[in-house]
Amino acid sequence: MLRMTRRGVLAAASAATASAFVPARFAIGGVAKVKVGLMLPYSGTYAGLGEAITNAFKMAVAEKGGTLGGREVQFVALDDESHPGKAPENTNKLVVGEKVDFLVGTVHSGVAMGMLRVVGETGTITVIPNAGANAATGPLCGPNIFRTSFSSWQACYPMGKVAVDRGLKKVVTITWKYAGGDEMVGGFVENFTKSGGTVVEQIQVPFPSEEFQPYLTQIAALKPDGVFTFFAGSGALKFVKDYAAAGLKPIQLMGPGFLTDGVLAAQGEAAEGVLTTLHYADALDIPENRTFRAAYKNAFGKEADVYAVQGYDAAQVLAHGMAAVNGDTGAREALIAAMEKAEIRSPRGLFTFSKAHNPVQDIYLRQVQGRQENVVGIAHKALSDPARGCRMA
Ligand code: BEZ
Repeated sequence: MLRMTRRGVLAAASAATASAFVPARFAIGGVAKVKVGLMLPYSGTYAGLGEAITNAFKMAVAEKGGTLGGREVQFVALDDESHPGKAPENTNKLVVGEKVDFLVGTVHSGVAMGMLRVVGETGTITVIPNAGANAATGPLCGPNIFRTSFSSWQACYPMGKVAVDRGLKKVVTITWKYAGGDEMVGGFVENFTKSGGTVVEQIQVPFPSEEFQPYLTQIAALKPDGVFTFFAGSGALKFVKDYAAAGLKPIQLMGPGFLTDGVLAAQGEAAEGVLTTLHYADALDIPENRTFRAAYKNAFGKEADVYAVQGYDAAQVLAHGMAAVNGDTGAREALIAAMEKAEIRSPRGLFTFSKAHNPVQDIYLRQVQGRQENVVGIAHKALSDPARGCRMA
């Protein structure tokens, strides 16, 4: 394992950045592979999310003949374990140790914060295929940092007004205690209170605990009109099942779509009626989504979900940039400029990037009806994250 002082990291990092400018073509006429680092969770609560992102990223590259900008791709995958404390060291392993040309990561917002501090110094072109940390396209934004997923604020702000419009005036919030959970609840609460709602209680569960019973008893005693929650992966699967088993289904359960995405089939009847907002829905009836879902099912034998979409689009944006520079990673400014201008034909619908490099996208209102995730409307059209604190916006 790499162990370095901060000065050592910076020295090695600038050497790594310089190496990105080595011409792609070797003198003997061969073409160097482009190295993509995948820093994702492959174990623990978010393992399924990391797998879906990886699958779909590789599928998008395979659709381009295994290349980006005409250069064959070499993948280096690293399990970040959703462990924020290990994030700087793990990022350095890929950026400094492996000298990747591009970094794709990660899922957990706390891990993303540590990763961003490193790539903010090294300048490695990084695409975030999930983590919603507002800071990534806020105070920690940078020319080399792109996100193909969402900001936590963006995924949850629209639900605040939806809840009030549906007569849910008194709400309890419950989430894991870490940046991802806090910020998702924050986005909801901002719009909910502005629209006239009252937050009765805000419950925080240590990450990644799935012991929900005492909190469900507390919610039952508080008798709110609704519960807003963020859990994802195996935590979301268990929470929705435990909520139903505790007899709480008459209290409207809502949250960002991570509550059901990727786990809906396993949640079964317990998920019926759950109301969510998200930038994607399985049932979106557009050609890009139909083609994507069929290809994913064919390749991996399972249904695609929002995480797969975000991974697919991470490859799409890199492909767009690399095509513009004919695979020359040394043409950094032109590469970044092309990525900034990309119009991504995503399975979620067309999206563009904001000045802070976050998707400007529709946020759908979805409800589980008859075991399916149905789109019941657009909660917010072309929503752009406010990019608070980003000097580029
Ligand atoms: C996050 O930490 O930002 C996150 C994790 C899982 C799903 C969605 C967001």
